[in-house]
Amino acid sequence: MQKKVTKAIFPVAGLGTRFLPATKSVPKEIMTLVDRPLIQYAIDEAREAGIKEFIFVTARGKGALEDYFDRAPQLEQELKSKNKTELLDVLKSTYMDSGAIAYIRQHQALGLGHAVRCAHRLVANEPFAVILPDDVIASETGCLKQMVDAYAETGGCMVAAMEVAQADTSAYGVLDVKEDIGSLVSVRGMVEKPSANEAPSNLAVIGRYILTPDVLKNLRKQTAGAAGEIQLTDSIAAEIDQGREIYGYRFAGQRYDCGSKMGFLQATVAFGLARDDLGDEFRVYLEEMVASRKAAQ
Ligand code: G1P
Repeated sequence: MQKKVTKAIFPVAGLGTRFLPATKSVPKEIMTLVDRPLIQYAIDEAREAGIKEFIFVTARGKGALEDYFDRAPQLEQELKSKNKTELLDVLKSTYMDSGAIAYIRQHQALGLGHAVRCAHRLVANEPFAVILPDDVIASETGCLKQMVDAYAETGGCMVAAMEVAQADTSAYGVLDVKEDIGSLVSVRGMVEKPSANEAPSNLAVIGRYILTPDVLKNLRKQTAGAAGEIQLTDSIAAEIDQGREIYGYRFAGQRYDCGSKMGFLQATVAFGLARDDLGDEFRVYLEEMVASRKAAQ
């Protein structure tokens, strides 16, 4: 029986320079897909997976993120007095239990591994999840919930995995697969951002992790790796050398890289089309727009 995973780390310290000028004053995690900020998708997925404690690794300029999770008494009062119960429910769905959120600052941008290491005191001696809010995953059952269920059987460390084009391996952590057992693969090694011809496979790590406290110990000793940064991938891979099991989990669902403009646009279209209140009208609009562009060519 594995210990339950109830804590999740959300590394949100990144500057989001790919989205300048928007990210000049708005944290990228607050950017909205349809009408919900990216971070809300990540929180909802974590809640569905049974996470009770939410640890944000933030940085200077991320104050709007902390405000986002605060209560909004004035707005609440306004909606109540106007009897806007549906909007009130939407507002309340963003509230977090008192004491359920912690913020830790990463004072220097030294990499994802360093960001996770910053949270080590809050995680203590338990398995924990890491969620990268840039990776938005549309699925019937949330990706982290799928992983938590699989982890209950396997234990060890588990990373979400997805096949990518060989030419794209240099954007990801990549798995060296020992044994492929359907949705689960057992892993012999992991490499951060290998070039296409050095990549051990095209099975890439996507931003959902279930990790053991041993990884935090490794992170304390971890030196800089790819891009001169302290890489989480390296400290997970070190587990294998220490004789512990690492699994990749091929999740069911569609992943969008909302850290890139193209991924963000694709997610916006997909989430817009999937909405009961907007989807039909949006589909008609898109079809008409594509048809008129084609006719004009
Ligand atoms: C991070 C991880 C990488 C992983 C990727 C998934 O990279 O370091 O291993 O494959 O997230 O999105 P980043 O995109 O932050 O450069």
